[in-house]
Amino acid sequence: MSNKIHPPVYSPISKWIHWITALLVLMIIPGGIVMIRLQEGQLQNQIFDLHRSFGVTVFALAILRVTARHFFGTPAPLESLTPLERRASVGVHHTLLALLFIMPLLGWLMTSAYRVDVSVFGLFTLPHLMPQSEPIYNALAATHKTLGLVMAGLILTHIGAAIMHTFIKRDGVLQRMLPTRR
Ligand code: HEM
Repeated sequence: MSNKIHPPVYSPISKWIHWITALLVLMIIPGGIVMIRLQEGQLQNQIFDLHRSFGVTVFALAILRVTARHFFGTPAPLESLTPLERRASVGVHHTLLALLFIMPLLGWLMTSAYRVDVSVFGLFTLPHLMPQSEPIYNALAATHKTLGLVMAGLILTHIGAAIMHTFIKRDGVLQRMLPTRR
């Protein structure tokens, strides 16, 4: 048993970070899949720049999110969850949280290996994390792609669970994350 004190709902900052991150990731994944299939040119470069900039934003929000979790805590799992549902939800949430760090870091590393600058909305440029290397770029790009698909699958599972709790179990799981509920 943990001695942690659990608030009844997520903190307002955690809720806003959750929904802004959700919106960004729901743009970044389909955007990433489309951008690599476009013809090389200005449009593709612009979408690559946006992909990297929003990806870095997700990384910054992930750091804020973990900080907010540390200071404000997270609500305890609902009593209505079976032990299996509880384990599944904690597993999905923790894996998604880890991917919010891993995906941007992989993107930053592979862009460094390709020797392209990561310019964040044209405001500043991140330093290169490693020397140029085509084999490393290829390996990192393949990992970024595979984990992107894993992330898409987990997000669909997460959304499916939220819909099931809202319309079938009606146990208020989604309400704990809504900014309107205090
Ligand atoms: C949450 C953050 C991110 C997610 C979910 C994500 C997801 C994706 C996805 C799904 C693709 C398409 C993969 C494919 O179909 O081959 C992609 C491609 C790509 N991403 Fe990301 N990405 C993220 C962050 C970043 C960041 C921060 C950077 C760079 C700083 C980056 C750089 C790239 C590049 C360069 C490609 C093209 C790879 C290639 O040439 O095959 N990504 N990303």
